[in-house]
Amino acid sequence: MSESTVVSESTDVAAPTLANYWHPIAESSDLTEQPKRFQLLGTELVGFRGPQGVSVFRDLCIHRGAALSLGWVTDGCITCPYHGWQYDSEGNCVKIPSLPEGSNVPRKARAIAYQAQERYGLVWVALEDPAAAVPTWPENEYDDPAYHHHLSSRNIWRCSAGRAVENFMDFSHFPFVHPNLLAPPDQTEVPAVEMEKTDYGLMYAYDTVEPESPSSAEGDVVRFEYRYVKPFTVHVKKVTPDGGVTFVTLMASPRAEKETELYLTFVRNYALEEPDALFDHFSNRVLEQDRRIVESQRPEEIPVSLREELHLKVPDASGIAFRRELATIGSVGEYKP
Ligand code: FES
Ligand SMILES: [Fe+2]
Repeated sequence: MSESTVVSESTDVAAPTLANYWHPIAESSDLTEQPKRFQLLGTELVGFRGPQGVSVFRDLCIHRGAALSLGWVTDGCITCPYHGWQYDSEGNCVKIPSLPEGSNVPRKARAIAYQAQERYGLVWVALEDPAAAVPTWPENEYDDPAYHHHLSSRNIWRCSAGRAVENFMDFSHFPFVHPNLLAPPDQTEVPAVEMEKTDYGLMYAYDTVEPESPSSAEGDVVRFEYRYVKPFTVHVKKVTPDGGVTFVTLMASPRAEKETELYLTFVRNYALEEPDALFDHFSNRVLEQDRRIVESQRPEEIPVSLREELHLKVPDASGIAFRRELATIGSVGEYKP
């Protein structure tokens, strides 16, 4: 199987931190002509949409630190609500109304602009030069006309992105947290699953019999393939005996140290006439079962050092491998990976 389309371009970032990765901050439809406030890695952002696309700046006016998100946009320029300085879509200050008409604008008068792009219905932002591309699907299934995609849910959890992602990769909790939904309650022993290190992160797979769900019948042997894309995206690909493929993809947005937004997207090539709500109903039940457990974990941030907490070689293999990957990514201010 070709993995070529998963995260390929990477620039030369010697010691990447979380700021060197793309993270989703919102749905595309959330960015409108007028400014709104967003949050990423503990940094307040302002976003708006102009004729050239989306602009995302630090939510701070360089003059006296007022929030630009309280301002307004005219002709593609954002005006600070305090003294009316105006910034264009790239963050250049183009007007200081308190100076006489025609005065020079100081060169340092700039908004702090970040790289932003729209992909998969979401707005992605990198606070520093990106070390990898926006995560994609293994064979670009999201854009394949044989597949149908939809954003199933958005949820804000009171936890770190690391805890949320590890939970999504961990299948040893299924009989306890999701009995009869994702595993029979007595199927507790975890088989040895090999973790494969890839250029984008990790890959592992296993076959199992699972209870009835919107995408399989009871007793079916289904194959699960997990692809973890650094730092906070996970694709779970489920293949049923008749070749039906469902990707359940978590894109976790690290808004703040103890606050993560979970974007859950489905991409499937079967049951295309069924309403998306059928899948949403199932996954919302599962997510709610996970949320109360993950929000209870202390510390809220995930300890990436394997000296902390206790690890079982076989049942915790995905968590161990994930923490090793996270440990290679640096912190951003207060925000630890
Ligand atoms: S603080 Fe923005 S113009 Fe003064
Ligand atoms: Fe779960």
